[in-house]
Amino acid sequence: MLLTVLAVSTSASVQSPKVSPRPPMGFNNWARFMCNLNETLFVETADAMLEKGLLAAGYNNINLDDCWPLQERTSAGELQWDPTLFPHGMPWLGDYLHTRGFNFGIYTNAGNMTCGWYPGSQDYEEIDAKTFEKWGVDYLKVDGCHMDLQKGRTYYEEFEYRYKLWHKVMDKLKKPFIFSQSAPAYFSPNFHLDKNNTDWYRTMEYVRSNGELARHSDDIKVYGLNVTFEPGGHWESMMNNYGMEVRLARYQSCGFYNDPDFLIIDWPDLTLDEKKTHFTLWSSFSAPLILSAYIPDLTNEDIEYLTNKDIIDVDQDALCEQATLVSQDGDVDVLTKNLANGDRLLTVLNKGDDAITYRVPLERLGIDPSGPHKAKDLWSKKTITIRNAIDVKLRRRQTAIYRISPSRGKSSVTPTGQIFNTFSLNCLTAPSSHRSSAVKFIPCNGDDEQVWQISSTGKVSPLSAPSSYLTANGRKVTLESREMGARSQQWKYGVSGNLINKGTGLALDEGGEGQISLEKAGVALDSQVFALPGGVKLE
Ligand SMILES: *[C@@H]1O[C@H](CO)[C@@H](O)[C@H](O)[C@H]1NC(C)=O
Ligand SMILES: *[C@@H]1O[C@H](CO)[C@@H](O)[C@H](O)[C@H]1NC(C)=O
Ligand SMILES: *[C@@H]1O[C@H](CO)[C@@H](O)[C@H](O)[C@H]1NC(C)=O
Repeated sequence: MLLTVLAVSTSASVQSPKVSPRPPMGFNNWARFMCNLNETLFVETADAMLEKGLLAAGYNNINLDDCWPLQERTSAGELQWDPTLFPHGMPWLGDYLHTRGFNFGIYTNAGNMTCGWYPGSQDYEEIDAKTFEKWGVDYLKVDGCHMDLQKGRTYYEEFEYRYKLWHKVMDKLKKPFIFSQSAPAYFSPNFHLDKNNTDWYRTMEYVRSNGELARHSDDIKVYGLNVTFEPGGHWESMMNNYGMEVRLARYQSCGFYNDPDFLIIDWPDLTLDEKKTHFTLWSSFSAPLILSAYIPDLTNEDIEYLTNKDIIDVDQDALCEQATLVSQDGDVDVLTKNLANGDRLLTVLNKGDDAITYRVPLERLGIDPSGPHKAKDLWSKKTITIRNAIDVKLRRRQTAIYRISPSRGKSSVTPTGQIFNTFSLNCLTAPSSHRSSAVKFIPCNGDDEQVWQISSTGKVSPLSAPSSYLTANGRKVTLESREMGARSQQWKYGVSGNLINKGTGLALDEGGEGQISLEKAGVALDSQVFALPGGVKLE
């Protein structure tokens, strides 16, 4: 069922899938409390997570963020906790959490100070790792503020050096920490508005072999404050991080997870539908589910959706696939992915302000449209039988999620969906008339000309013309209905994000005005990095 043809060696390089075989779940104080943290907060949080069934549902990491240490290291150079905030100390807190079944997570910074101006770990990596180990830490977030450039290294090189050094240091511990890396966020589009995405992509490539998760872009907007740098309000911030995540699916596999940041479930301006959208999208991505909220005050309604077992099962699915975009049609995004038991996921997001009914033809999910297939609505728990299409009713900013079980003998899946440039965000588009063979990049619009199927031999066809193929003609790229020399119609794709023609060895390239050509592959060039439908197994 999974294709192995568009192959690039990747999963073997993930550092050790055993450290976190599934995306981490749990709690972090930052988005809710920022620097207002203390022992009482973590004790209350642990007690409430136990009592409300969050631990039983899988939320088993309790993580401290910035601002826990004293300003001074000990004479031996060790970090020390602030005894006013943590009167019993970190080893005691670690024990408290372990005894109740939680992992203990802590925060430091790869630069010489934390983002909140506490001592950073730069040049203290080994000492700090040993200190954390002594305290019983299981999970470490390493942020990237205040990087001191040493030995003539560039900003990019200092990050790469420090994060790889952390990997080496942790690898020597008896039990490696779950390593949460913030490096990519410092090279992401909103940090470098005037620059290209090249260093962002290069950073994503090394962090996936270096640790278990990576904060790839902006912080999610923190509680109450509207003076920080995150884009827009809380809904806009969530949509912004969603929009970054969909560009990065190719990096994820079991053991390494793209991290779009915390679930902000108690921000009062978010409606229940918006909060459930947040949870549904993050789960569809198999993203880390880290709650940042005051857990003791969560309502029964909040707990009920956060412990939806069917949706958590999608997040924790054994394939660890990140759902990818099938289409973007005005306010509606459709996403899909494979699930380990052969089921197919369907997620439909209504970003708009109006209630809608939206029809998704089953061929868009890469499954046999004739069905009949069973589709379970993971919110209502109702199962229906579907043929040809499924109609989805959505309120403003609501997201539907279905688990589709193909009928017997109809379980084969063809990776299907958008092919888009992750810099320009334009979609590869087939000609809409038979008289033209010109393909181009234009804004995504949800038409069949923008929904591509990728065959097991690496052929690429639009749903609008399923027996026509993306074809290399010298340096030109066209859509041809006849079979040409096989390799001119076969393509390779991997973690680089390049779409390489097998015949010419050249990379698809989006030029100005959406023009397409084939060019020599460069290193992570904005014009050559694309997101493809998932389900193409990268090995
Ligand atoms: C601990 O932190 C919480 C959250 O910021 C705050 O409400 C509480 O007053 C603090 N408690 C103590 C003892 O400082
Ligand atoms: C951290 O690095 C910056 C930039 O090089 C430097 O200005 C600052 O003095 C350093 N601070 C500490 C505490 O080492
Ligand atoms: C925060 O600022 C954004 C952008 O200026 C605005 O859209 C949003 O409504 C503000 N939110 C609050 C709660 O003030």
